[in-house]
Amino acid sequence: MRLLNLLVNGRKHAAAARDSATLLEVLRETLQLTGTKQGCDGGECGACTVLVDGEPRLACITLAASVEGHAVESIEALAAQGRLAALQRAFHEKLGAQCGFCTPGMVMAAEALLRREPQPSEEQIRAALAGNLCRCTGYVKIIESVQAAAQWRGEAARASCEAAAPAGSAIGKERA
Ligand code: FES
Ligand code: FES
Repeated sequence: MRLLNLLVNGRKHAAAARDSATLLEVLRETLQLTGTKQGCDGGECGACTVLVDGEPRLACITLAASVEGHAVESIEALAAQGRLAALQRAFHEKLGAQCGFCTPGMVMAAEALLRREPQPSEEQIRAALAGNLCRCTGYVKIIESVQAAAQWRGEAARASCEAAAPAGSAIGKERA
Protein backbone atom coordinates (compact mmCIF):
# COMPACT_ATOMS: atom_id res chain seq x y z
CA MET A 1 0.00 0.00 0.00
CA ARG A 2 1.07 3.58 -0.50
CA LEU A 3 -0.39 6.95 0.20
CA LEU A 4 -1.31 8.83 -2.95
CA ASN A 5 -1.71 12.57 -3.05
CA LEU A 6 -4.30 13.26 -5.67
CA LEU A 7 -6.01 16.38 -6.95
CA VAL A 8 -9.51 15.38 -7.96
CA ASN A 9 -12.18 17.85 -8.98
CA GLY A 10 -10.17 20.69 -7.48
CA ARG A 11 -9.76 19.04 -4.07
CA LYS A 12 -6.66 17.42 -2.59
CA HIS A 13 -7.07 13.84 -1.40
CA ALA A 14 -4.67 11.57 0.44
CA ALA A 15 -5.72 8.07 -0.59
CA ALA A 16 -4.22 4.76 0.55
CA ALA A 17 -3.97 2.41 -2.40
CA ARG A 18 -2.12 -0.63 -3.70
CA ASP A 19 0.78 0.15 -6.02
CA SER A 20 -1.19 -1.45 -8.85
CA ALA A 21 -4.48 0.37 -8.12
CA THR A 22 -6.06 1.96 -11.15
CA LEU A 23 -7.42 5.47 -11.15
CA LEU A 24 -10.88 3.97 -11.65
CA GLU A 25 -10.57 1.87 -8.49
CA VAL A 26 -9.41 4.84 -6.45
CA LEU A 27 -12.13 7.13 -7.78
CA ARG A 28 -14.96 4.66 -7.26
CA GLU A 29 -13.87 2.65 -4.24
CA THR A 30 -11.66 4.96 -2.20
CA LEU A 31 -13.12 8.38 -3.01
CA GLN A 32 -16.67 7.08 -3.58
CA LEU A 33 -16.93 9.02 -6.84
CA THR A 34 -19.09 6.45 -8.59
CA GLY A 35 -20.23 8.67 -11.46
CA THR A 36 -17.31 7.31 -13.48
CA LYS A 37 -18.50 3.94 -14.75
CA GLN A 38 -16.73 0.60 -14.88
CA GLY A 39 -17.61 -1.14 -18.11
CA CYS A 40 -15.13 -3.43 -19.82
CA ASP A 41 -12.34 -2.60 -17.35
CA GLY A 42 -9.92 -3.16 -20.20
CA GLY A 43 -9.64 0.05 -22.18
CA GLU A 44 -12.24 -0.85 -24.79
CA CYS A 45 -15.51 0.95 -24.03
CA GLY A 46 -14.77 4.48 -22.79
CA ALA A 47 -17.26 4.30 -19.91
CA CYS A 48 -14.50 5.24 -17.45
CA THR A 49 -13.34 8.36 -19.30
CA VAL A 50 -12.13 11.16 -17.02
CA LEU A 51 -9.94 14.17 -17.71
CA VAL A 52 -6.31 14.37 -16.63
CA ASP A 53 -4.93 17.86 -17.11
CA GLY A 54 -7.91 18.45 -19.40
CA GLU A 55 -7.27 15.49 -21.67
CA PRO A 56 -9.52 12.41 -21.83
CA ARG A 57 -8.03 9.39 -20.12
CA LEU A 58 -9.36 5.87 -19.58
CA ALA A 59 -9.33 5.52 -15.81
CA CYS A 60 -9.49 1.70 -15.92
CA ILE A 61 -6.07 1.42 -17.56
CA THR A 62 -4.43 4.38 -15.81
CA LEU A 63 -2.41 3.69 -12.68
CA ALA A 64 -3.60 5.95 -9.89
CA ALA A 65 0.02 6.60 -8.92
CA SER A 66 0.70 7.99 -12.39
CA VAL A 67 -1.65 10.93 -11.92
CA GLU A 68 -0.09 12.28 -8.73
CA GLY A 69 0.75 15.90 -9.45
CA HIS A 70 -1.90 16.14 -12.18
CA ALA A 71 -5.41 17.52 -12.14
CA VAL A 72 -8.09 14.83 -12.41
CA GLU A 73 -11.67 15.72 -13.29
CA SER A 74 -14.55 13.28 -13.12
CA ILE A 75 -18.17 13.75 -14.10
CA GLU A 76 -18.90 14.99 -10.57
CA ALA A 77 -16.87 18.13 -11.37
CA LEU A 78 -19.21 19.43 -14.04
CA ALA A 79 -22.38 20.49 -12.25
CA ALA A 80 -21.79 23.77 -10.44
CA GLN A 81 -23.84 24.75 -7.39
CA GLY A 82 -26.31 21.97 -8.14
CA ARG A 83 -26.96 23.15 -11.69
CA LEU A 84 -26.34 20.78 -14.57
CA ALA A 85 -23.59 21.79 -16.96
CA ALA A 86 -24.67 22.49 -20.54
CA LEU A 87 -23.45 19.08 -21.71
CA GLN A 88 -25.35 17.28 -18.97
CA ARG A 89 -28.52 19.26 -19.69
CA ALA A 90 -28.15 18.63 -23.41
CA PHE A 91 -27.76 14.86 -22.98
CA HIS A 92 -30.89 14.92 -20.84
CA GLU A 93 -33.02 17.17 -23.04
CA LYS A 94 -31.86 15.85 -26.43
CA LEU A 95 -32.13 12.21 -25.35
CA GLY A 96 -28.42 11.54 -25.68
CA ALA A 97 -28.72 9.35 -22.59
CA GLN A 98 -30.93 6.27 -22.56
CA CYS A 99 -29.75 3.64 -20.08
CA GLY A 100 -27.10 6.23 -19.15
CA PHE A 101 -24.25 3.81 -18.58
CA CYS A 102 -22.02 5.33 -21.25
CA THR A 103 -23.10 8.90 -20.51
CA PRO A 104 -20.50 10.05 -17.95
CA GLY A 105 -17.68 8.90 -20.21
CA MET A 106 -19.31 10.44 -23.28
CA VAL A 107 -19.84 13.72 -21.48
CA MET A 108 -16.25 13.90 -20.28
CA ALA A 109 -14.89 13.11 -23.74
CA ALA A 110 -17.19 15.78 -25.17
CA GLU A 111 -16.13 18.25 -22.47
CA ALA A 112 -12.49 17.87 -23.51
CA LEU A 113 -13.51 18.45 -27.12
CA LEU A 114 -15.55 21.60 -26.41
CA ARG A 115 -12.73 23.11 -24.37
CA ARG A 116 -10.31 22.85 -27.27
CA GLU A 117 -12.86 23.28 -30.07
CA PRO A 118 -15.91 25.24 -28.87
CA GLN A 119 -17.84 24.85 -32.14
CA PRO A 120 -16.85 21.44 -33.48
CA SER A 121 -18.04 19.94 -36.73
CA GLU A 122 -20.00 16.69 -36.71
CA GLU A 123 -16.85 14.91 -37.89
CA GLN A 124 -14.86 16.35 -35.00
CA ILE A 125 -17.52 15.22 -32.54
CA ARG A 126 -17.59 11.72 -34.00
CA ALA A 127 -13.79 11.55 -33.88
CA ALA A 128 -13.66 12.76 -30.27
CA LEU A 129 -16.22 10.17 -29.18
CA ALA A 130 -14.91 7.32 -31.31
CA GLY A 131 -13.54 5.48 -28.28
CA ASN A 132 -16.80 5.71 -26.34
CA LEU A 133 -19.25 2.90 -27.04
CA CYS A 134 -23.02 3.13 -26.62
CA ARG A 135 -25.31 0.14 -26.95
CA CYS A 136 -28.56 2.14 -26.81
CA THR A 137 -28.72 5.35 -28.79
CA GLY A 138 -27.28 4.70 -32.23
CA TYR A 139 -25.10 7.78 -31.55
CA VAL A 140 -27.30 10.29 -33.47
CA LYS A 141 -28.84 11.70 -30.29
CA ILE A 142 -25.42 11.86 -28.69
CA ILE A 143 -24.06 13.93 -31.59
CA GLU A 144 -27.11 16.21 -31.39
CA SER A 145 -26.59 16.61 -27.64
CA VAL A 146 -22.99 17.73 -28.09
CA GLN A 147 -24.04 20.13 -30.86
CA ALA A 148 -26.74 21.62 -28.61
CA ALA A 149 -24.29 22.04 -25.73
CA ALA A 150 -21.79 23.74 -28.03
CA GLN A 151 -24.51 26.16 -29.16
CA TRP A 152 -25.64 26.91 -25.59
CA ARG A 153 -22.09 27.42 -24.38
CA GLY A 154 -21.43 29.77 -27.28
CA GLU A 155 -24.55 31.78 -26.48
CA ALA A 156 -23.66 31.94 -22.79
CA ALA A 157 -20.11 33.08 -23.59
CA ARG A 158 -21.39 35.83 -25.89
CA ALA A 159 -23.93 36.97 -23.30
CA SER A 160 -21.30 37.15 -20.56
CA CYS A 161 -18.93 39.06 -22.87
CA GLU A 162 -21.65 41.58 -23.61
CA ALA A 163 -22.56 41.88 -19.94
CA ALA A 164 -18.89 42.48 -19.04
CA ALA A 165 -18.30 45.08 -21.78
CA PRO A 166 -18.15 48.63 -20.38
CA ALA A 167 -21.01 50.97 -21.28
CA GLY A 168 -20.39 52.55 -24.68
CA SER A 169 -17.85 49.86 -25.58
CA ALA A 170 -17.70 48.80 -29.22
CA ILE A 171 -17.44 45.13 -28.21
CA GLY A 172 -20.32 43.14 -29.60
CA LYS A 173 -21.58 45.96 -31.79
CA GLU A 174 -21.82 45.79 -35.54
CA ARG A 175 -19.37 47.92 -37.46
CA ALA A 176 -20.84 50.98 -39.12
FE1 FES B 1 -12.45 1.68 -19.05
FE2 FES B 1 -14.18 0.29 -20.51
S1 FES B 1 -14.20 0.62 -18.36
S2 FES B 1 -12.54 1.54 -21.20
FE1 FES C 1 -27.07 3.07 -22.81
FE2 FES C 1 -25.26 4.57 -24.04
S1 FES C 1 -27.20 5.20 -23.28
S2 FES C 1 -25.04 2.54 -23.34
